[in-house]
Amino acid sequence: MSFLRNAWYCAGFTSDVAGENLYAITMLGEPLVLFRGADGKVTALADRCPHRFAPLSMGKVCEGQVQCPYHGLRFDAQGGCSHNPHGDGSIPKAAQVRAYPATEKHGAVWVWMGDPSRATAAALPDFSAIDERPGWTRVQGRLTVQANYQLVIDNLLDLTHAPYLHPFLASAEPPPPDFRPDIRMEQEGDSVLAINEFHRMPTTPLYRMLWERGEPPQHSTLRANMRWDAPSVLLLDTGASPSGAPREDGPSAPSAHWLTPESDTSTHYFWAAARDRYVGNAEVSAQMAGGIDAAFRQEDEPMIEACQRRMGGTDLISLKPVLLVTDGPAMRARRILSQRIEAEGV
Ligand code: FES
Ligand SMILES: [Fe+2]
Repeated sequence: MSFLRNAWYCAGFTSDVAGENLYAITMLGEPLVLFRGADGKVTALADRCPHRFAPLSMGKVCEGQVQCPYHGLRFDAQGGCSHNPHGDGSIPKAAQVRAYPATEKHGAVWVWMGDPSRATAAALPDFSAIDERPGWTRVQGRLTVQANYQLVIDNLLDLTHAPYLHPFLASAEPPPPDFRPDIRMEQEGDSVLAINEFHRMPTTPLYRMLWERGEPPQHSTLRANMRWDAPSVLLLDTGASPSGAPREDGPSAPSAHWLTPESDTSTHYFWAAARDRYVGNAEVSAQMAGGIDAAFRQEDEPMIEACQRRMGGTDLISLKPVLLVTDGPAMRARRILSQRIEAEGV
């Protein structure tokens, strides 16, 4: 397994690590346990006691520390053993578990899987577009895809699959005969942008539902601009507006897609989507979350998993895939990612 180590990976939503809960997740093939210390800050430790290797996540939180479920050693936020209930209570030197830098931002918990001295807040791209804030309402969810995370990135950077796979997010109606999508790629630093603008598109079911102000037009301009940053965090700027009108005249529903490899062939997929229409409306939230979840779970996930099965364990590039013009952003992202992984030289 080769992954970019020096990067923030999403471990879950802030609500996943709550109270006295021990939250277990495997990231980059490494089992982790997360919990809140006495000060409320999130701690991420290797989920393996150094005594008889019990999963610490099966234990419990005691005074902001994790207590091993087997013989009761306790570990603090730095992974140091803070309490030995046996013998004279002295702490063996080797009683130490690896601690990973952890932080909270954009309603999620982020874990730095590489050199702790290189962990900086600036290394996390900006996702404030999906933050819960006045004038916006957010929904979120998660799933696990049984495929390599780069296949999920490919899926998100090539949204030309939408009309074929997603009748709720795209449109079931055929586009007008003179329909010409504006699809192009841009790169800013190491960020890759896949720009998708569709003019005079039949307004999609999602945006008909979100229109709110007056009747939705039959046709509108739909934008779906995906930004990728290494290793696997993506932001979709999407919305519909009346043809020729500013974007504010129609609804926007930006979404974040945070992919965390669980292993070489499975991926945690965390998503969050905000909207600026029907703010605070629980019924619309439920419909939107249900629609997005169904699209990912019933449409993208089975397709990506089926591709992975057909590919076996072979890497995409070594299978020499046919390349279409729409593969530009995904191929650029793959190149940047492999250069970054190589530069780490691990
Ligand atoms: S395995 Fe953890 S204290 Fe024994
Ligand atoms: Fe999709």
